Amino acid sequence: MALEGRVAVVTGAGRGIGKGIALALSNDGATVVLADSDAASVQTLAGEIRSAGCEALGMSCDVSKREPVEDLLAEAIARFGKIDVLVNNAGINRDTMLHKMTDEQWYEVLDVDLTAVFFTTRFAAAHMRERGYGRIVNISSASWLGSLGQANYAAAKAGVVGLTLTAARELARKGVTANVICPGFIDTEMTRRVPPDVWQSVVERIPVGEAGLPEDVANLVVFLASDGARYITGQVLNVGGGLTW
Ligand code: NAI
Repeated sequence: MALEGRVAVVTGAGRGIGKGIALALSNDGATVVLADSDAASVQTLAGEIRSAGCEALGMSCDVSKREPVEDLLAEAIARFGKIDVLVNNAGINRDTMLHKMTDEQWYEVLDVDLTAVFFTTRFAAAHMRERGYGRIVNISSASWLGSLGQANYAAAKAGVVGLTLTAARELARKGVTANVICPGFIDTEMTRRVPPDVWQSVVERIPVGEAGLPEDVANLVVFLASDGARYITGQVLNVGGGLTW
């Protein structure tokens, strides 16, 4: 139980990778605050975790808006006294080729995938500096290096890398680490939306030969959140079954 006594906030925890991360952190002893714009999903998950004897709170939150984000994090501190671990996982995609991309598609993705990470990380940075302890784990994507039909998504995910590496430098002497995980192709509702022939062609490019599971990402989050990872900060870590971009 490496995370016993720790309080972790996970965004986009209602399903997919975020749900896997929330369950893994909880299994390792952390109290988890689960945030999602789909309130029902996190309330159900929090109920399941509590039934298993662990502490969990599910909260409705659109992370792309500053006020709900600040309310969420303030509520986590009010209920549990502190935030030790912040996992920015919530994300969306609105894929289309650059020459057809609308302003709305651009801003929607930038708001959820990048600006939200700024809102949460700014708040957490102030809180964690004061306490002299913290673990920030941000979920970017292998697509940050450029990906067909994903100019908005790649730009946002590249922004997450720059933001996190800056946070790592600013917080390194305050007992706070900040790292980025770039999943490759993970089996979730997000990827299940692609047509079967595209799914097949992506999987064929993965050296391991199959899509990853949410647990594959979650296992690394648990390690980065633990005391054992105190000397690892400012890193961009791929979880992609060997897939190189
Ligand atoms: P998903 O679509 O299955 O789940 C995303 C979750 O985020 C949902 O529960 C959704 O309700 C929530 N969410 C969306 N907008 C929100 C908002 N404004 N406020 C709060 N919650 C919101 O996606 P998946 O696959 O689990 O992805 C999780 C993260 O991993 C995302 O950041 C995604 O970009 C990233 N990622 C996923 C990959 C994959 O292959 N599935 C690959 C690389 C990165």
